[in-house]
Amino acid sequence: MAEFPNHFLWGASSSAFQIEGGWDEGGKGMTVADYNSFKRSDRQADSKTASDFYHHWEEDIDLMAELGMQIYRFSLSWARIIPDGDGEENPEGIAFYNKVINRLKEKNIEPFVTLYHFDLPYALVEKYNGWEDRRCAYAFEKYARICFREYGDRVTYWQVTNEQNLMIRVDERMNINEPDPLKADRMRAQMDYHMFLGHALVTKACHEILPDAKIGPAVSSTCTYPLTNKPEDVWAAKMNDYYKTVYCLDMHYYGRYSGLYMRYLEERDIVPKMEEGDEEILKYGRPDYIAFNYYRTLCASWLPADEEHPAGMRVYRGNEVDFDQYGCCRDERNNNLEASEYGAQIDPMGLRIVLNDYYARYHLPMIITENGLGMADTLTEDGRVHDDYRIDYLRKHIQACADAIKDGVDLMGYSPWSFEDLLSSHQGFRKRYGFVYINREDMDLKDMGRIRKDSFYWYQNVIRTNGKEL
Ligand code: BG6
Repeated sequence: MAEFPNHFLWGASSSAFQIEGGWDEGGKGMTVADYNSFKRSDRQADSKTASDFYHHWEEDIDLMAELGMQIYRFSLSWARIIPDGDGEENPEGIAFYNKVINRLKEKNIEPFVTLYHFDLPYALVEKYNGWEDRRCAYAFEKYARICFREYGDRVTYWQVTNEQNLMIRVDERMNINEPDPLKADRMRAQMDYHMFLGHALVTKACHEILPDAKIGPAVSSTCTYPLTNKPEDVWAAKMNDYYKTVYCLDMHYYGRYSGLYMRYLEERDIVPKMEEGDEEILKYGRPDYIAFNYYRTLCASWLPADEEHPAGMRVYRGNEVDFDQYGCCRDERNNNLEASEYGAQIDPMGLRIVLNDYYARYHLPMIITENGLGMADTLTEDGRVHDDYRIDYLRKHIQACADAIKDGVDLMGYSPWSFEDLLSSHQGFRKRYGFVYINREDMDLKDMGRIRKDSFYWYQNVIRTNGKEL
């Protein structure tokens, strides 16, 4: 039987552009996420309606309460609060989230609020190519301060960014359209650095304004296995984790790039511009907890550099999230694991490894803010969704959490992806993760009805029994 501490926080997650819809209602400005989703509007769902939470928020929060959620991890849309990113505040946008937060509190659900989940206001891209410019970090701080002022009396848990370490790899999210790989890497390194700066400014502001609040990042976790037990492959696997995730956690925690990361930046000749005094600011970025998202594990082999491919050069894979790095690591398939229909290699043991690994590194309380299985669910004729495959996935991952807690890890909560079906980051509405089915298809909005899946009832019982009955 799995055992969880009494105060363990059970929840579920979402993000603004993936559920809200109402993309230009209530004064909201366009975001990078909107812009990118519109490029695919001819063939799949976009962010215009998404799950239409903007018009169904009361009903949806009632369902969260029925599920028994103790926390709801969701994001605020920066462009709803400051439509052009760094100008005037939008009272209507501020009011929308006040309604949502109040309703959550009425239902005894703790809001777990992410400030920035992939949806930079598009106006900042037009003004100065977003994170390439240092001003973006200060715009982020300005927006965060408004959120702390407006919601800080009711929100204890804040999350600065969702998956900076993954977002930075995806060109369309960063607006990187540079064909020269070296110039693109240089731009990426600069953007990454400015985001770290923004992260630290926001964390500092939170600690000043809300001394009782808890703030931290959510990283996209990686757990990479070596393809063989050759020492080079073992190093490659470690470096795959390092360059995709650990460098980012280290920067959040220590406020500086490690020697290993500086070596990469220097060898690749992409050291970002840093200003005097930045070191001081970055120190304030140390989080109160570490949140991470976990879906799958990776595998890597050694990839030598050669004349054509200098050390540090990266080649991105089709999904843009995985890359090979010369002089370092090549992405491989792990034949010991099964993959979902969307290619994610399913691995509950990997979750136990990640939990133990990050806890051993930082000794901070941890929370899982995303974990789940994306599948093309079927609505049966009698209006049910039998998603036993999702139950199986979640059960094994929750068991891995219980094991890690027994290992001594301080895990404070589990908030899987996602509360309700929502717009996938790239794959429209066919790929679903929710406990609640949204009755729409990619190109047909149907009645947008809310339907409890089998996993809803199962998870409700998991929460009710504090994880004893899985
Ligand atoms: C995470 C993101 O990386 O993965 C979510 O934080 C995203 O926004 C989730 O939806 C699942 O990925 P996808 O591509 O299946 O939607």
